[in-house]
Amino acid sequence: MDVPQTVTAALEDRPVDGATCLEAGAGVGNATTGLLANGGRRVYAITNDSDHATTVRERIGRTEADRTAVIEADLTNTPLAADSVDVITAHTLFNVLLPAALPAVIKELTRVAAPDCHLVVDDYEPLPEDAAVSDLFAVENAAAELVTGRPALTFYPSAVLRRLFAGYGWEFDRELTLLDPVPWTASHVEAHANAARSRATELAAELGDPLIAEVDRLVDAIGSESAGTMYSVAMRRPN
Ligand SMILES: C[S@@+](CC[C@H](N)C(=O)[O-])C[C@H]1O[C@@H](n2cnc3c(N)ncnc32)[C@H](O)[C@@H]1O
Repeated sequence: MDVPQTVTAALEDRPVDGATCLEAGAGVGNATTGLLANGGRRVYAITNDSDHATTVRERIGRTEADRTAVIEADLTNTPLAADSVDVITAHTLFNVLLPAALPAVIKELTRVAAPDCHLVVDDYEPLPEDAAVSDLFAVENAAAELVTGRPALTFYPSAVLRRLFAGYGWEFDRELTLLDPVPWTASHVEAHANAARSRATELAAELGDPLIAEVDRLVDAIGSESAGTMYSVAMRRPN
């Protein structure tokens, strides 16, 4: 299993070996691969998306199945026991969480954290205003807002998440820059373009078609771009 370089860097100084771990918001399971590679004794991968759960199960395969439990659940209400997890990762989770969801998710992560638990939050700083990809994210958010009433993406400054977690009793440990600048590759750009197109097709044609045309224009104009930074904030739950 390939472990992305950002996950390797974020976990390098964390005590994963022998630990009970949680990847909060499993996506394709990038952090799960890192937690397994670093010797996690048991790794829970939680996502609320059944396709993502299937992807993670396939990626883990049979060899790691006995150490891994892929769980479909909401991060505001997980089946994990209180005080049971030693290492939690939220690798690119927070950018898909709305501000209104943050308190309930952080409360639940705090509930399952064992005393002395290590938490790693890896995410993107808000993009510089002149970044071309931010125009694409704006169209993705506009389409999501029109369909669901909510944006798809929110980029939280690390300083905001640090202060928020402090309010739930977490102590700051360290911060690293994982990427500076972030390489938004053509495949990242296409993935976000497809998310925006997919939302736009749910709209009436007079609303959706101009959004799709704008997405197509932006994909051609952007190609790929390096912009913004990705951070890793590590915190601990005191005894
Ligand atoms: C951008 S992906 C994270 C990527 C993953 N951590 C990785 O590094 O590959 C976000 C994941 O969080 C999940 N997610 C978002 N909100 C959630 C919630 N409230 N409860 C459970 N999972 C959630 C999404 O379904 C998705 O699987």
